Amino acid sequence: MTNIKEALEKDLKEVSLRGWIYRKRELKDKIFVVLRDKDEIIQCVFSKENFDEKSWKELLELQIEASIEVFGFVREDPRAPNGKEVEVKNYKIFDKGLPFPLHGREEVSTIMKYRHLWIRSRKFNAILKIKATLMQALREWLEKNEYIEVNPPIIIPVAVEEVQTLFEINYFDKKAYLTQSSQLYLEALIYSLEKVYCLAPSFRAEKSRTRRHLHEYWHLEIESAWYDLKDIMRDAESMVKYGIEKVIEKNEKELKFLKRDTKILENYVEKPFEKITYEKAIEILQSKGLNINYGDDLGADEERVLTLEFEVPIFVTHYPRKLKAFYMKESGNGKTVENFDLLASEGYGEIIGGSQREDDYEILKNKIIEWNLPLEKYEWYLDLRRYGSVPHSGFGLGIERMLMWVCKLEHIRDTLPFPRLRETEILI
Ligand code: 4AD
Ligand code: MG
Repeated sequence: MTNIKEALEKDLKEVSLRGWIYRKRELKDKIFVVLRDKDEIIQCVFSKENFDEKSWKELLELQIEASIEVFGFVREDPRAPNGKEVEVKNYKIFDKGLPFPLHGREEVSTIMKYRHLWIRSRKFNAILKIKATLMQALREWLEKNEYIEVNPPIIIPVAVEEVQTLFEINYFDKKAYLTQSSQLYLEALIYSLEKVYCLAPSFRAEKSRTRRHLHEYWHLEIESAWYDLKDIMRDAESMVKYGIEKVIEKNEKELKFLKRDTKILENYVEKPFEKITYEKAIEILQSKGLNINYGDDLGADEERVLTLEFEVPIFVTHYPRKLKAFYMKESGNGKTVENFDLLASEGYGEIIGGSQREDDYEILKNKIIEWNLPLEKYEWYLDLRRYGSVPHSGFGLGIERMLMWVCKLEHIRDTLPFPRLRETEILI
């Protein structure tokens, strides 16, 4: 067995290739099949003179996505998609296939219905390869920087982020929730390991239907003892740069297939990220004519306008305390918090949310009360401020958000094989 990549790259005469029919064209005495496998496509030519009548009939019946093996000779052909083609001498059919329901120009609803088949597309193949590189690279960065991987639970008793986005579940007749973030557990674990991370799904029952919200996404969260806001922002920048650098290095072909300009990506690796305060962000937005005031949250539209002002990703820091979660450390005499959102360039917006955490017992307790959260359920979390509290910081990165930006995709649904979105039923 050889694969298509070998057939294209090596100087082979004879090959045997397995794969699926990507395209098919019939002439009077020739059948042109473009075969695809996990990496590549190659044109295969069946000439009538080489096959008996029964075989020819069988070959004519092959459908798009039929699974076959071909045996033949490779030769250069500048007209073929990758510059080479295979003259087929023999073949084996695994499944001749039924007429394939997708042709590449379907509506979103059809694609979602046939998602299990659509994910064979070359575009999605490229996206998944980039995602794998990205996830591996981010882990590699974490390991190089002495973060220890841990595995917090997915079923949780209390909110970490907004209560409205919790998915409630029935846990033996008691209420529990699917996790929105593992942060509180990571905070508990730094008292042993100091620097920890986890890569796990998070769940958000978001009301908003946007091109960047999923109900289930992969969340990379890190937490470090002794870190302040500056320290955690430095790590966020270094990690994001490392991830992009590895994608450029390993996925040149896939980026090209997606028509992603690698020059722009290189810029993100080479240039320092921009840092502005929330207050400054509001000023910029007002100067651009947006109707926004200090105290208003930045939504997708505002983030887009901001990112278009700069060539590189932007850290927006020090949001008003009321806009952010209860656990963030206060600054500016209680007006702001020691937090950041990292906004990805080219209009993409938030890919990371992070902060220094409140480490003072009294302040944290009062904020839990002020935020109307059930204090008794956070007693264990308050214990972390009772027994050897330390300054610490962390962040959460949405893998699909980052991938969407790196691949320059229109919609977040194409970052996952089986996305969970409110506008489409769960069929698969
Ligand atoms: O900003 P968020 O809500 O922050 C937290 O959950 C913190 N507890 C993380 C931490 O400090 N450990 O979410 C973090 C990131 C966002 O920046 C975004 O990239 C992603 O998670 N995210 C989503 N991605 C896809 N769909 C959604 N509905 C998302 N909600 C958040
Ligand atoms: Mg956020």
